[in-house]
Amino acid sequence: MATVTMKHLILAPLRGFTDAVFRNAFHRHFQGIEEAVAPFVTSIKGRRIKPSHLKDLSPADNRAMPVVPQILSNRPDEFICLANTLVDLGYREINWNLGCPFPMVAKKMRGSGLLPHPELIDRMLDQTFRGFSGSLSIKTRLGRFSADEMEQLIPVFNRYPLARVIVHPRTGVQMYTGNVDLKAFQVILTRLSHPVVYNGDINDPATFKFLESGFPTVSGWMLGRGLLANPFLPEMIQSQGRLIGSRTTRFERFHDDLVAGYSRLFSGPGHVLDRMKGFWRYFTADFPEGRQIMKQIRKADSLDHYRQVVAAVFDGQDRWECPQLPVPEER
Ligand SMILES: Cc1cc2nc3c(=O)[nH]c(=O)nc-3n(C[C@H](O)[C@H](O)[C@H](O)COP(=O)(O)O)c2cc1C
Repeated sequence: MATVTMKHLILAPLRGFTDAVFRNAFHRHFQGIEEAVAPFVTSIKGRRIKPSHLKDLSPADNRAMPVVPQILSNRPDEFICLANTLVDLGYREINWNLGCPFPMVAKKMRGSGLLPHPELIDRMLDQTFRGFSGSLSIKTRLGRFSADEMEQLIPVFNRYPLARVIVHPRTGVQMYTGNVDLKAFQVILTRLSHPVVYNGDINDPATFKFLESGFPTVSGWMLGRGLLANPFLPEMIQSQGRLIGSRTTRFERFHDDLVAGYSRLFSGPGHVLDRMKGFWRYFTADFPEGRQIMKQIRKADSLDHYRQVVAAVFDGQDRWECPQLPVPEER
């Protein structure tokens, strides 16, 4: 009998989406993801870290799948303090965010704002490895302004014992527009001495297959927006497009689990409604008549109204039952 090798698929950090409520609900209803990198927490001045700052990372809420906490920081002392606190909570690997593209963050020389400054990254890594004995990985873009920035960054990354480097091959200023730069990714993959994870625009099994055959030495594959739009995506990748059961029923149960989880987490129904409306911007990308559905959902002015709209949406999804995506040809 042929053995099926599981692809190492990782849930991307998506702040405002892939928090513990999402990670646990996802794990209850879907398969195919082996671990998650959590959305970033910022480092803080001083040595006292309030438990509320790390609420999303409380060990009790993070037993469903292995989770790697992520830190946004440009201060080694603060980073070390927070990373050691997370290791004390039981986390093995900590990820450093060098990718956040938002100008508010980048202008303060954090996230992708650090990428044009390899000397600062070098100093940060040097000092961090003196005070942090856990496992450290990096999530990066190609550069802030240009992929050429990697020329200086690769030797810096290679000087330190990083657990792995996750690469989203866009520049910071690209934000989420334009194409991923696969030529630049190939160069990084060849020259980095660490395991490399690919991340960016894996939205369907065919794209995954294309990337996997182009980059056979990649150690893992990170899925973000594609998984939000279609939470069946990891299963489709793992099983070459075949799905078991009614997509609508499984999706509806997952959705209801999210609503229940956020109702427990947030203090009022307005916050739950806002959060769920955010999700539907992605969900509707994979729904027939997605634009009309989004219009109705946006209009919902209470959680009860929202539930009615959503119930009608699920009722009308008979065309969404178990579609079989074409299985890409073996090359
Ligand atoms: C709403 C949103 C929030 C994000 N939050 C984070 C974050 O907290 N940390 C991080 O490293 N990347 C974050 N990202 C970037 C994603 O992890 C990922 O690198 C990017 O979306 C590309 O992958 P994808 O095409 O599979 O979505 C975020 C992206 C989006 C759209």
